[in-house]
Amino acid sequence: MPAIDRSALLFLVFGVVSLWLGAFFGLLGAWQQVMPGLFDVIPFVKSRPLHVSLVISWIFMVAVGGVYHYLPLLVGRPMHSPRLVRVHLFLWMILGLAVLGSYMLGRFGGREYWEFPPALGGLIAVSWFLLVYNFFRTAMQGRGPWPAYLWMWATGVVFFLLTFLEAYSWLWPRDDANVVRDLTVQWKAYGALTGSWNMLVYGLALVVMERISGVTEYARSRTAFLLYALGFTNLLFGWAHHIYPVPSAPWLRYLAYGVSMTEWILLARMIRHWRHTLDGAQRHQHVLAAHFLYASEAWVFLNLGLALLISIPAINLFTHGTHITVAHAMGSTIGINTMILFAAIFHTVDRVHGDTGTRVQYVRLGFWLLNGGLVLFWLSLIGAGMIKGWYTLMSDLSFQDIMVMVRPFLMSFAAWGIVLFVGITLLAVHASWALLGPFLRSRPVPVDRSTEAYNR
Ligand code: HEM
Repeated sequence: MPAIDRSALLFLVFGVVSLWLGAFFGLLGAWQQVMPGLFDVIPFVKSRPLHVSLVISWIFMVAVGGVYHYLPLLVGRPMHSPRLVRVHLFLWMILGLAVLGSYMLGRFGGREYWEFPPALGGLIAVSWFLLVYNFFRTAMQGRGPWPAYLWMWATGVVFFLLTFLEAYSWLWPRDDANVVRDLTVQWKAYGALTGSWNMLVYGLALVVMERISGVTEYARSRTAFLLYALGFTNLLFGWAHHIYPVPSAPWLRYLAYGVSMTEWILLARMIRHWRHTLDGAQRHQHVLAAHFLYASEAWVFLNLGLALLISIPAINLFTHGTHITVAHAMGSTIGINTMILFAAIFHTVDRVHGDTGTRVQYVRLGFWLLNGGLVLFWLSLIGAGMIKGWYTLMSDLSFQDIMVMVRPFLMSFAAWGIVLFVGITLLAVHASWALLGPFLRSRPVPVDRSTEAYNR
């Protein structure tokens, strides 16, 4: 029976460190928006990409660490090559330092989300290839038909690599340069990248639900496969509803709007159904992981409302490029992805420690600060975006005058950012301490004893 892999736990720990650092630079950026000149050593042009790259890396580190951690337990065999997992971790460590260093030195050159020098992208592609190879060699050893989460992970790892390469296709200039094509390919690639990490994260959510409840039918149900199919359709076509100004084919826009975010409804439905099937003991034993999954369900509905509204072309005209887009991006990456990732982390902590570990009250406090703070943080961004969008289109006021009206909302956003940051700090400290515990106390990392229950 496979023991818990230490490298997989380190992926989770470095992911948490990335989140904390990313939130720190986000907070700095938020205050720089209302207090220009604040901490000029790292101005907004640096703090923003530092923030975005670090929080995206949190999503990838923990999603990939989750795959490395759970896959052997689900298949009932160790990873095909534990050494390649260590090489992957090592490459990402080097990459992380190189990206931080290049931003600090002001060396950019890439595009949105990957603003570091493009040469570093090569390292991401090589390390990701190791994951794809190791994933399939391991997953193929399992018996029986694959549950939906294995399909989600397989699709996520393959499509990340394909669309990551596509996102860098601008490096090969063509003679017939065409701005519309360039913009379309870029958005298409980014839409699919988001779709790929969603596949990894949704898969993780299904695994955590299965392992807490012991019910293997969820991930084999029709709803789970519908979730997979819709997630995959969104991965392929969802980008088209982001760029109405670009003249893409009408059928593509209708399809994109039609399927837009529909997978969220199914995800929430599955979590709700799962919640009702838990017994008191299961709820108690995995109280933290369960709470994070409930929170993601609530955030699905909040984000869905916003996303559907801003996808309507007439509304999109006002909201595009305002803080409402930032609210949409942060609302879903924090409210949905981050909540699921914390659920996976605290479920892993339960397994490593045999219970939720110590200092549960601090984690609960962190949970409420993160969620409560996020509601007001998110509403402040929406308020700022509404004022900016409306007055930009409907008045002759100058940009400066409009920004004066927007300022109170940005102040509120930055202030609630502090609450969010404190919540994230409490969660990050507890999670990394608990995950590092077995390493620091040189205690052997325990063997998973429940594999048989899940490997049917
Ligand atoms: C202390 C908490 C945080 C603060 C104060 C904060 C602040 C910010 C700021 C100031 C921006 C730039 C907005 C702009 O360009 O106008 C931003 C963008 C962004 N943040 Fe955060 N952030 C926080 C936490 C997070 C977390 C935890 C995540 C995800 C896990 C996240 C995801 C993003 C994303 C994806 C963007 C890019 C949005 C876009 O380009 O539309 N943030 N954040």
